[in-house]
Amino acid sequence: MPPISSLRPHVTVVFAISADGKIGDDQRSRARFGTQADRRHLEEQVAKADGVLMGAGTLRSEGTAMRVFDQALVERRQQQGLPPQPAQIIASPSGNISPDLKFFNQNCPHWLLTLPDNVEQWRSQPGFDQVRSFAITQRPENASDPDAPSNFPTIDWPSTLGKLKEDGIHRLAVLGGGTVVAALLAIDAIDEWHLTVCPLIVGGRNAPTPVDGETGLPADQALRFDLESATTVGHEVFLHYVRTGSEDAH
Ligand SMILES: NC(=O)c1ccc[n+]([C@@H]2O[C@H](COP(=O)([O-])OP(=O)(O)OC[C@H]3O[C@@H](n4cnc5c(N)ncnc54)[C@H](OP(=O)(O)O)[C@@H]3O)[C@@H](O)[C@H]2O)c1
Repeated sequence: MPPISSLRPHVTVVFAISADGKIGDDQRSRARFGTQADRRHLEEQVAKADGVLMGAGTLRSEGTAMRVFDQALVERRQQQGLPPQPAQIIASPSGNISPDLKFFNQNCPHWLLTLPDNVEQWRSQPGFDQVRSFAITQRPENASDPDAPSNFPTIDWPSTLGKLKEDGIHRLAVLGGGTVVAALLAIDAIDEWHLTVCPLIVGGRNAPTPVDGETGLPADQALRFDLESATTVGHEVFLHYVRTGSEDAH
C-alpha cells in the first residue's frame, strides 16, 4: 500500500514523452514534443493545481513558467477560491538560476526552494516572491556515482512537501524533470501520472527520461499504478495512471 498522503500535497506528474520514452534530447534543448492538444491537456492539469513544481534543469531548458492562459480555466479557479495562477515553484539546491530568464517577467507567483546558504542572496534581489530553504539530507555514502562527494546536500522531500502543504499547496503539479521526479518517486510521493506519448523517436542514452536519478528500483519492487484512461487524439496517446491502492484508484 502507498504511504498515507495526508501530510503532503496531492502530487500529479505531467510529461510529454517520445515513443521511445524520452522527455528531451541529449542536448537538453527546449522540449517541444506535443501538439496543441497536448498543450491544452497540460494547461488543464496546471489549472487544477495550487503549485507547479519544476527542477532547475527544466527551468534552464525551458526558461518559462507554465501558466493558465484560458480565461475559462482562470475563472474556474477563481470560483473555487483559488488565485488566478498557481505558484511556480523551482527546486534548485544551488540557487544558480539566471535572473534574466523570461520566467521572472511572467505574471504569476514565483517561489524558490534552495539551500539555506542561498536564501539571503535571492531574498535581497528581485526575482522570486517567496524563497524557502528546505531541510537537507546528505547523499548516502553508498551513492552509485563514485565521484560524488558523500556530503552532497540534497532536498529532504518528506519535510519539504509537508511545508508546501502548510503554505497552502494542496495540489502540486510536477512538470519535471527526471531528477526531481526520481526524488519524489523514491519516497513514493507521486499519486498520479499524465503521460502524453508523442509520435517521435529521439534516442540517445543520455537523453532525459521521466524518472532519472542515480538508481532506480529493482523490477520486483517497482511501484504500481492503475491505468485510469487511455485516449487517442490524432497521433498522440494520453495516458492517465493512478497509484495502485490510493484513494484515487478505481
Ligand atoms: N517533455 C516534457 O514534458 C519535459 C518536461 C520537463 C522537462 N523536460 C526536459 O527535461 C530536461 C531537464 O531534466 P533535468 O533532470 O536536468 O532537470 P530537473 O529535474 O528539472 O532539474 C535538475 C535540477 O534539480 C535540482 N536537483 C537536484 N537534485 C534534486 C533533488 N533531489 N530534488 C530537487 N531538486 C534537485 C538541481 O538543481 P541545481 O543544479 O540548481 O542545484 C538539478 O540540477 C530538459 O531537457 C527538459 O527539456 C521535458
